[in-house]
Amino acid sequence: MDYVQQRVAQFASNADTSSNNTLFTPLNGLLLSVLLYTAYAFFLRPTPPPQLPKEEPAIVFRTFTPRTLLPYNGEDGKPVYLAVRGRVFDVSRGRNFYGPGGPYANFAGRDASRGLACGSFAEDMLTKDLDGPLDTLEDLGPSELEALRGWEERFEEKYLVVGKLVAVGEEEKDK
Ligand code: HEM
Repeated sequence: MDYVQQRVAQFASNADTSSNNTLFTPLNGLLLSVLLYTAYAFFLRPTPPPQLPKEEPAIVFRTFTPRTLLPYNGEDGKPVYLAVRGRVFDVSRGRNFYGPGGPYANFAGRDASRGLACGSFAEDMLTKDLDGPLDTLEDLGPSELEALRGWEERFEEKYLVVGKLVAVGEEEKDK
């Protein structure tokens, strides 16, 4: 190899190493990792499965008696139920009203018909004998029945009916 060829070869090899040196700078390394991460994020990263909304618990329509309704007073995180004219409403959404310490807690777990009709929280508005007949409300006047109807309409809009209230001994006949 003559001198010129030798110099050309030398120059070429220098150019090679110097170009290698400029390619692998810290900045290029950083850019490359950003590029790789972006490609990974877009194309390769597994997408989490879509979250389905939690299913509402199924509503089982049940038959209650005044006694079996009684535990549903919202204590210990239990649901709050109350009955109006034979229909049992789940008023748990209104726990602030009917739950323990609420202003209408007296109706929780009870047949609230008479108390709502008469606008009274008095103890004698509630069925005393939990194993006796249901309150027939026969003695109520038109304005009381109208007030009761108003409450029923409000409950129908706001709460779910989860069962019916019957007297003890009426449960089997009912099925
Ligand atoms: C001084 C008299 C009373 C006042 C100031 C009063 C006030 C209220 C207020 C502010 C609410 C909340 C309304 C809402 O945000 O939807 C409410 C709800 C209610 N009130 Fe009264 N109230 C009174 C008397 C009564 C009486 C006499 C009864 C029946 C015996 C009664 C039964 C109810 C019931 C059942 C609810 C809850 C309805 C629901 O679940 O949405 N209230 N009351």
